[in-house]
Amino acid sequence: MKGILVAVSPEGIIGKNNTIPWHYSADLKRFKRLTTGKTIIMGRKTWESLPLKPLPNRRNIVISRNSIENADCFRSIDEALETCEGDIWFIGGAGIYEEAMLKSDVIDMTLVPDNVSGEGCIYFPEIGIEWIEGETKPLKEDTDLMHKNYTRRV
Ligand SMILES: NC(=O)c1ccc[n+]([C@@H]2O[C@H](COP(=O)([O-])OP(=O)(O)OC[C@H]3O[C@@H](n4cnc5c(N)ncnc54)[C@H](OP(=O)(O)O)[C@@H]3O)[C@@H](O)[C@H]2O)c1
Repeated sequence: MKGILVAVSPEGIIGKNNTIPWHYSADLKRFKRLTTGKTIIMGRKTWESLPLKPLPNRRNIVISRNSIENADCFRSIDEALETCEGDIWFIGGAGIYEEAMLKSDVIDMTLVPDNVSGEGCIYFPEIGIEWIEGETKPLKEDTDLMHKNYTRRV
C-alpha cells in the first residue's frame, strides 16, 4: 500500500507559514495510529515543521535536493521508494503530494472545518479524474471532522 495522508481546510489548504493552522488531537492520534510501524515520506519543509524529529516508531524519510542532518534523506521520491519495504504514507507537503498522486493507491483525507486565508497558504494539489471520490463521513473519534478516501480508478 502506498497512500497519501492529508488534512485540508474547506479552501483546500494544508498549511500556512510552514505550520498546520489548526489542531485536532483526534486527527493527530489517527495519524499516529495509521503511520506507526510504517514508512512516512515527507518534503524538507514538513520535516522542518515537525515538533519532534524523527517521529518515533516509524521510518521517517525526507525528500530534499540537499542533505539534511540526522535525517534519512533522498533526492527524489523514486530513490527513496527503492529502499522501502511495506506500507508507505506520503505525509506532505504539496510537492510531495503532487508527485505521490502518480504512485499512490489511496488518498486518505480529513476535512477540518477551519477557514484559512491570507498569505503563506499551501494548497493540496488538484485531484484528477483518475481518482474515485468516496463518501464523506464524520470521523468517529471527533465528529467536528469529516473524512473521505479517494481510490484510484482501475
Ligand atoms: N495538512 C496536512 O495534512 C499537512 C501535511 C504535511 C505538511 N503540511 C504543511 O504543509 C506545509 C509544507 O509544505 P510545502 O509544500 O511548503 O513543503 P514540503 O513539500 O514539505 O517541502 C518542500 C521541499 O521538499 C523538497 N521536495 C518536495 N518535493 C520534492 C520532489 N518532488 N523532489 C525533490 N524534492 C522535493 C524540496 O526540498 P529542498 O528545497 O531542500 O530541495 C522542497 O523545497 C507546511 O505548512 C506544513 O505544516 C500539512
